[in-house]
Amino acid sequence: MRLKDYLSARRQNVEAALDRLLPADEAGGPILEAMRYSLFAGGKRLRPILCLAGAEAVGGDPERVMFCACALEMIHTYSLIHDDLPAMDDDDFRRGVPTNHMVYGEGMAVLAGDGLLTEAGVLLCDPEETKGLDPARVLAASRVVLHAAGYLGMVGGQAVDLASENLQPDLATVQYMHAMKTGALLTASVQSGAILAGGDDDQVAKLMRYGRRIGLAFQIADDLLDLEGDPAKLGKAVGADQARGKMTYPAVVGLPQARAMGQDLVDEAAAIAESLGNCAQPLAMIARYIMERTY
Ligand code: IPE
Ligand code: IPE
Ligand code: MG
Ligand code: MG
Ligand code: MG
Repeated sequence: MRLKDYLSARRQNVEAALDRLLPADEAGGPILEAMRYSLFAGGKRLRPILCLAGAEAVGGDPERVMFCACALEMIHTYSLIHDDLPAMDDDDFRRGVPTNHMVYGEGMAVLAGDGLLTEAGVLLCDPEETKGLDPARVLAASRVVLHAAGYLGMVGGQAVDLASENLQPDLATVQYMHAMKTGALLTASVQSGAILAGGDDDQVAKLMRYGRRIGLAFQIADDLLDLEGDPAKLGKAVGADQARGKMTYPAVVGLPQARAMGQDLVDEAAAIAESLGNCAQPLAMIARYIMERTY
């Protein structure tokens, strides 16, 4: 199996499901249009793909956890819309198109983010989508996802990110910040998929260790791409971190060391995935891809 084909097939499944779960509707007015603008602007769909792969890794059916995968992508897209606001990173381009606030204005962009986050919550307790699943597992997975999005996860990490602008670079701070702002939701992605698909405690614990490693590495790679990446491929500006005095891995340990640390993390993650057997093979490939990606 080629990873490229796997990712592209899964991406198509996710996009079709997102379109079904948040359909265009004139009655939704401009707010739904703004929500859908960013949701369908592109994106790698890595979090939903990890959720599906988490289900697969424990021998489950990925299609059964699609609602949770889509909720994760809605939360992630909301985090990007807010991250780009002038009050945060003040970015004009995202996913190859103007950012949400550039098109709809700041007020509407705030609301589009709020709308996507709330819709994710609605989806996680949708009676149709969760029919036939163990209710205790639905509850547990939902808590994992929402907790990872909140003040002890993504939102908390974003707060540290803002508070750390122009401070003296420090490895403990950047590690904590990256684990929270990016690692938490990526970990919750594999973890929730595995919980919903009936994974046992040992499998879920292993997948959490996997998720924490690729989650941190993913943000290290994002920092590196901000220095060395091609904006045309990335669909967003580069050089923005230095300009805003962001605390990043390369700013703290230098570029070669940051790359080496990211590589060690994905190697460890790949080994954990391999220990879970054949069903977790896609996760092992995804781990290696995290540091190889160019967008
Ligand atoms: C960008 O996430 C923000 C980070 C958490 C680093 P992605 O690189 O996954 O962005 P999309 O979803 O592919 O646009
Ligand atoms: C964003 O980190 C992490 C989020 C939780 C959205 P960045 O601010 O580095 O992400 P990009 O580079 O704008 O995509
Ligand atoms: Mg940011
Ligand atoms: Mg940003
Ligand atoms: Mg970045």
